[in-house]
Amino acid sequence: MSRLLVTGASGYLGQELCRQAAPDFAVFAAYRNNASSIAAGEALSLDVRDERAVRAAMRALRPDAVIHAAADNSQRSRAWGTNLEGSWNVARAAMECGARLLHVSSDMVHDGCAAPYADDAVARPLSLYGRSKAAAELAVRAAHPGALVVRTSLLYGLDGLDRGTASFVQRLQRGERLRLFVDSIRQPLPRAELARALLELLPRRLDGFLNLAGSEALSRADFGLAMLRWWDVPFSPEEVERVRAAQVSAETPLDLRLRLDRAQAVLGRELPGVTAVLRAGKTSR
Ligand SMILES: NC(=O)c1ccc[n+]([C@@H]2O[C@H](COP(=O)([O-])OP(=O)(O)OC[C@H]3O[C@@H](n4cnc5c(N)ncnc54)[C@H](OP(=O)(O)O)[C@@H]3O)[C@@H](O)[C@H]2O)c1
Repeated sequence: MSRLLVTGASGYLGQELCRQAAPDFAVFAAYRNNASSIAAGEALSLDVRDERAVRAAMRALRPDAVIHAAADNSQRSRAWGTNLEGSWNVARAAMECGARLLHVSSDMVHDGCAAPYADDAVARPLSLYGRSKAAAELAVRAAHPGALVVRTSLLYGLDGLDRGTASFVQRLQRGERLRLFVDSIRQPLPRAELARALLELLPRRLDGFLNLAGSEALSRADFGLAMLRWWDVPFSPEEVERVRAAQVSAETPLDLRLRLDRAQAVLGRELPGVTAVLRAGKTSR
């Protein structure tokens, strides 16, 4: 049985990755703080910023493959430590022990001015998070030339509230209005679909950059409202303000549509869009 190390295993994507991988791989599920969030596999505490600890873990575990999903998704300067240094540490250690590496990156490496973005489009990030993820991509590719860098979009799921929808619900409960961006375009993807695709890509000799996102592009506003309706969250039109992103922040990239032809060719299928996922989810619940 192949040995798979998942970093960020306690996170939103990592939990699903470990669940799906567990029947077919010996899974090592690395977390930083939240051991109780590990869904499957052998849990291990590992701070990816700690170079010696990462090397020691890699030598001890001898993984055949690593999916690096650990990240600091904050817009704080501390994100650099995990996203850049941590990714460098993981990539170098994976390279040293001959492990295949899939690195999870983000559409936020783009500035939103030149969509649709090719898989290997040069990153021009606007936000701190985007800059740290873009720098991480370069570090990973330098440390591990065989690595595959996967750029994905907003992640969600129907097995529980995703982070974005949960924060909308909390705001509504506090009596706050929601300010939803009408001009920020993304291609949300269920985490289960991304996890499945990443596991399919593990045995493939594919390197470089790959966009993996849902086939439907829609605004953050339309996505947010569709999710609230799907979850039957009560809200009135007065509680929702549709705004332009620039009214709130100059660091929000607008059009982050990704070209998905390489993903379709490699996977042999289109990754589903929001409308199709929600429709299928409605009939099955
Ligand atoms: N969620 C999205 O919509 C989205 C969109 C595009 C791209 N992505 C990318 O997808 C990947 C997974 O995102 P996610 O939403 O699953 O993240 P998440 O839910 O915020 O989880 C982050 C994970 O990283 C771990 N982590 C943070 N700092 C660490 C450190 N210094 N050392 C080791 N582990 C550390 C956390 O561990 P503890 O919780 O145990 O501390 C947690 O397991 C990330 O690369 C992210 O950039 C996500």
